[in-house]
Amino acid sequence: MPKHVAVIMDGNGRWAARRKRPRAIGHRAGARAVNLCIDWCLERGIGALTLFAFSSENWGRPEDEVGALMKLFMGALEREVEELDRREVRVRFIGERERFAPALRARMDAAEARTRRHGRLHLNVAASYGGRQDIAAAARALAEDVAAGRLRPEEIDEAAVGARVALADLPPPDLFIRTGGDLRISNFLLWQLAYTELWFTDTLWPELDAATLDRALADYAARERRFGLTSAQVAAPGTAAATDTDNPSP
Ligand code: FPP
Repeated sequence: MPKHVAVIMDGNGRWAARRKRPRAIGHRAGARAVNLCIDWCLERGIGALTLFAFSSENWGRPEDEVGALMKLFMGALEREVEELDRREVRVRFIGERERFAPALRARMDAAEARTRRHGRLHLNVAASYGGRQDIAAAARALAEDVAAGRLRPEEIDEAAVGARVALADLPPPDLFIRTGGDLRISNFLLWQLAYTELWFTDTLWPELDAATLDRALADYAARERRFGLTSAQVAAPGTAAATDTDNPSP
């Protein structure tokens, strides 16, 4: 069972276009699928869910679509926070929060404060988020620490970077799911996805159901995660088989 699932919720616009409806209607239908996905994580005992709600690049979409998404986020925050609190879900936002309007920022802050004590499910919403921006911010934090004399350059290693990217306190995602048929990561959690198992489906996000998510889970369970080691090492760590050099791993 994955501890952490990361999701790119793609296909809202195409779902709406197929019904000859405005894209905003697709996003509204997408918000219902968000609830389904949260319920699914709670039912399956998955401890962390990270959703890509709005990328740094999405600010460039037509003004009316960006406006509709902001309205949707405001409404969802007002409607859902009480229920999330009741279900012991901790909500957190990652990304450039300062780019959002003060009223929306205030609701994000309030949702985080209200649910801070929970841990049954960590729900992370990436909003105005970009993976490169995340890594650049970590680099800036490292530079500031060096400039202030808190860190020596030779102390900068993977752990030092990893401690400064978003969600550093959670295990990295085990499973990445993207709906909508495109086969790319689209500047999502670039650092954090290094060893994540990737799973793609043509299902459009508003059409998501638990059976589709269960298929992702079944595929994930059938995969062998080697983290750069050999199959033998993964199967029996520390044994002779594990050091068999005739058994290389791709
Ligand atoms: C991508 O589909 C989806 C988005 C840019 C927005 C995601 C937002 C939601 C699912 C709404 C609610 C979210 C929360 C957290 C309340 P697309 O528009 O790129 O679809 P397309 O590729 O078919 O055009």
